[in-house]
Amino acid sequence: MKIHGARILLVGASGGIGAATARVLAERGGRIALGGRRPEALSELARTLDGSAFPVVGDITTDEGRGALVTEALSGLGGLDLLVNAAGLLDFIPFGHHDPSAVERIFRANTIGPMLLAQSLLPSLQESGGRIVNVGSIFGSIAFPYFAAYSASKFALRGFSEALRRELAGSGIGVTYFAPRAVRTTINSDTVVRMGEATGMKMDDPKVVAHALVRAVEKDRDEAYFGWPESIFVRINAILPRLVDRALRGQSQTMARFARPAPIRR
Ligand SMILES: NC(=O)c1ccc[n+]([C@@H]2O[C@H](COP(=O)([O-])OP(=O)(O)OC[C@H]3O[C@@H](n4cnc5c(N)ncnc54)[C@H](OP(=O)(O)O)[C@@H]3O)[C@@H](O)[C@H]2O)c1
Repeated sequence: MKIHGARILLVGASGGIGAATARVLAERGGRIALGGRRPEALSELARTLDGSAFPVVGDITTDEGRGALVTEALSGLGGLDLLVNAAGLLDFIPFGHHDPSAVERIFRANTIGPMLLAQSLLPSLQESGGRIVNVGSIFGSIAFPYFAAYSASKFALRGFSEALRRELAGSGIGVTYFAPRAVRTTINSDTVVRMGEATGMKMDDPKVVAHALVRAVEKDRDEAYFGWPESIFVRINAILPRLVDRALRGQSQTMARFARPAPIRR
């Protein structure tokens, strides 16, 4: 699809990948409702984008929050051509110590929120023949130890994207699942960054990832995996998961040194 003149709701705009994506979309002439929970961060970003963007505030894990995002975006843009679901959370922790409420929070932010936002916006996207982009992760195809809830939430988002794309085939609405490898943003705590250095995990600059995301939209891609050789491991894991089990075994021991247990509050 063409970005110039496109009416876009970008949720997660206050984050590292979201803000970088907003800049690329604005450079290409998109009009953007910048979604997230922190009004100051969104307003600050809008100020740097020369009138092409405005903030819309809401928490995607609540009905009210999603309602506010949808209403404000549609009234400010006068319709919608593109929804980018780029909000998300992660915890790096042994699953046995992961607080149940935190596990639920991850699923509400990474999976259920994006699904229900897309559902609310289907009528508007139907009118315009628009597109939904769900930002997943390489971890949504290769499940990593100590990221059990995060990996599972992204597997679910990938499954949702595939099902919806098949359901909407021929309707005029496209669905893109965009999956980067690790990216240098604040979603990764200092511990995750140190673990990444110890295991040789590569981390990309959010600007490079944002360009890849926008390219995937412009090319109407169904799926895009960013990062080499991770994108090849995605295919190997699908066919020969035992091979990836073996490859991850050594890495898992190093990861265990960093993944700190925390007390579970029930
Ligand atoms: N960084 C990576 O290594 C990496 C790799 C692969 C995939 N991803 C995915 O890329 C997406 C963006 O991540 P990032 O790296 O840019 O992280 P980030 O810098 O921490 O940004 C996260 C964004 O999500 C928003 N958000 C979180 N919970 C929300 C909620 N309940 N309601 C509304 N907005 C919410 C935050 O907004 P507020 O702070 O304003 O609430 C923020 O804009 C996520 O889906 C993440 O899983 C990241």
